[in-house]
Amino acid sequence: MKKLKFQTPTGMHDILSFEQRCFRSVINAADKIAEFYGFNRIETPILEEKELFDKGVGASTDIVQKEIFTLKSKGGDCLALRPEGTAPVVRAYIEHGMANRPQPVKLYYIGPFFRYERPQAGRYRQFWQFGLEIIGEKSPVSDTQIIQLAHGFFSDLGIKNITIEINSIGDRECRSAYYRSLTKFLRPKTKFLCTDCQKRTKENPLRVLDCKNEKCQEVIKEAPQTLNHLCTDCHLHFKRVLEYLDESEISYQLNPRLVRGLDYYTKTVFEFSTFDSEGKSLALGGGGRYDKLVEVLGGKETPAAGAAFGLERIVQIVKGLQGEQTKKLRNRVFFAQLGEKGKGKCLGLMEDFRKANITVGELLGKSSLKVQMARAAKIGAELTVIIGQRESLENLAIIRDMETGRQETVSFKNLVGEIKKRLKK
Ligand code: HAM
Repeated sequence: MKKLKFQTPTGMHDILSFEQRCFRSVINAADKIAEFYGFNRIETPILEEKELFDKGVGASTDIVQKEIFTLKSKGGDCLALRPEGTAPVVRAYIEHGMANRPQPVKLYYIGPFFRYERPQAGRYRQFWQFGLEIIGEKSPVSDTQIIQLAHGFFSDLGIKNITIEINSIGDRECRSAYYRSLTKFLRPKTKFLCTDCQKRTKENPLRVLDCKNEKCQEVIKEAPQTLNHLCTDCHLHFKRVLEYLDESEISYQLNPRLVRGLDYYTKTVFEFSTFDSEGKSLALGGGGRYDKLVEVLGGKETPAAGAAFGLERIVQIVKGLQGEQTKKLRNRVFFAQLGEKGKGKCLGLMEDFRKANITVGELLGKSSLKVQMARAAKIGAELTVIIGQRESLENLAIIRDMETGRQETVSFKNLVGEIKKRLKK
């Protein structure tokens, strides 16, 4: 096939009208559940200072080292297309003095994010996330509430077979003892690790645990587990999160290898996944607690927790569930006309229908009644309003029942009411 002159950049995609409907329904479900749980929406810029992510997400993470899109502004600022939403939301929390509001501050966001990843099924360079952050609450109940919200979100969308994996990676206090034990384990095995992990062993050994390289996976199978190194506070916190989950009857799997790919996490981490068409596990969302991030980014020490969900992956599943029915938004009423006057009258009448909240289909640019009636039949309209030349002069409309072929003439004044009556039947 001949290559087109212009195409979407690699890993980026258009969201066409058929997909928009499904996308909208997922966004509506996200808005609804976030608002129910008392989250307020926030929009942050798509560009942020790159340093926000170096500090927030971590300079040695894959996201910052390999995946971030950066650009230099004309003024010389080093900016980045946001690869995730937690660091920007925390930046906004500090910048707008939200610490002075009643705590916790619960914020959610829906928008595009950017990561320079190898494009593959369900993995894009521009993708949408629905994210939630509870800032200013240390109780394990907020970790569970986020998981519960996610559980409800998937269930509202009809998505079943979600696996929830959960782990605790401790805090700074227990992490240092764990790092010592992990480094001791990794050091004699560095020659079996990929070059990235050889570096990570020295700089940030936790990152070795989420390396996807098969060689590294083999080594870390035997690695010490964070769960065995938790201090009393982290242990109790995790225990409470699991108890709350049990009380909410939400099933989960403990995964002692789950560390997540961002450096800001402390204590609880979790991931929601399903299987793709090839049976490979696909993460639909993930999150956890990040009690140090506000401080790292320049605020006061403030506990927080959150999660984010990849909308393209979710839309893909919902599309499969809804099938063909989402393809067409059916207009139950169609407007057909003859002559210039007929077109003009239709424009005015359609406004009456919009105000009455009745969606209508039309082909006002066409003159042939045959073509218009064929379209009405194709979209499955129940009723067609026909404004012929005579009707437009007398302010009359013909209502045609598309199933029986029966036609009746009514005045413009009564048209909306008559259509409503017939649609009710
Ligand atoms: P994350 O796990 O990096 O976490 O991303 C969350 C979700 O975004 C993933 O589970 C996946 O569904 C989706 N996602 C990530 N990268 C891509 C991609 N390249 N293409 C398509 N979907 C993708 C975060 O971003 C954290 N900020 C979550 C969080 C919020 N933690 C605390 N608060």
